[in-house]
Amino acid sequence: MNVQSKIDFAAIIPTQRIAHNVLDLVGQTPMVRLHRYLDLTDVNLIAKVEALNPGGSAKDRPARYMIERALADGRLSPGDTVVESSSGNMGIGLAQTCAVHNLKFICVVDPNAQAQNVAIIRALGGKIELVEAAIDGDFLAARLERVAELLRASPDRFWPNQYANTDNPAAHEAGTISEIDAALPDQIDYLFVACSSTGTARGCRDYLRRMGRKTKVVAVDAEGSTLFDGVAGPRKISGMGAGRVPELAKGQSFDNVIRVADITCVTGCRRAVAREGFLVGGSGGGVLEAVRSMQDKLRGKTAVAIIHDSGARYLGTVFDPDWVERELGVPEDQVLALAGLETSVA
Ligand SMILES: Cc1ncc(COP(=O)(O)O)c(C=O)c1O
Repeated sequence: MNVQSKIDFAAIIPTQRIAHNVLDLVGQTPMVRLHRYLDLTDVNLIAKVEALNPGGSAKDRPARYMIERALADGRLSPGDTVVESSSGNMGIGLAQTCAVHNLKFICVVDPNAQAQNVAIIRALGGKIELVEAAIDGDFLAARLERVAELLRASPDRFWPNQYANTDNPAAHEAGTISEIDAALPDQIDYLFVACSSTGTARGCRDYLRRMGRKTKVVAVDAEGSTLFDGVAGPRKISGMGAGRVPELAKGQSFDNVIRVADITCVTGCRRAVAREGFLVGGSGGGVLEAVRSMQDKLRGKTAVAIIHDSGARYLGTVFDPDWVERELGVPEDQVLALAGLETSVA
């Protein structure tokens, strides 16, 4: 018997809402239960899949929010130029937002920017401004100086400044965490969030406190990041951590801070793929390993991990065994062992 002929697809396929424009697709990202990532079965671990925003990351949210707030209060008008220093997800989110709102976008990057991200920003209509020389070894200082020069050059230019702009955490308060809380009202014991600007973690924490939730917010930071009194050091995984403490992060505290090494992010990514078929980005791997490091404490509890982007953006780094061995000094069989996975048999 043909089983398919008995299925009434019209009854099971929900009516699709037609979005007004691509920015209307930002948010309402899905959540998925991760049954096999941990070694314990009595931890209710749920991931928020931010890669399913149209630009591929959680940064679509603050990019849209910062620009639309500036348009609404007249700091920015259609036809103006947005200038930002970013070589990653924020640059992509801003390029997408600017394309929809008829704004020009100049993205200031340095030679460490990943070629794939730069290509996406360009493809979305952004103009790339490459800073070639560091100031006293500091590329961030050089990029910020170039941003200042570009702003001085013309009055119709706007700098969202994601590291100081409170519309960045506000976007997560209005979107990311309110969506999570609506799905699991007052049921989340722990929330794990990777940090760089701290916009995501701040916004989530502020919402949860305002709602009177008891959720413990765990900030996940990179080893070598200066956030939360960390000591600056080399970091190879993009997205997580900060070389200098951003304005948004000053004076902020969370219930717990867990620092993860670059190799821990890599092993987390590999484990997420092997155990769950979930291709997470570098910070997502770090966040999941932060959860795993606390799993004994999480028995019988619900933990939500925000996964900021997809591993598809890290094919030449985290998911490339040659890169991992060259940059982090860890051969593939050790990566698999650290991830608690079987070493493949040739
Ligand atoms: C992949 C990834 N993970 C985590 C973060 C940290 O987010 P936030 O800047 O909100 O602290 C970022 C920010 O750029 C990111 O791109």
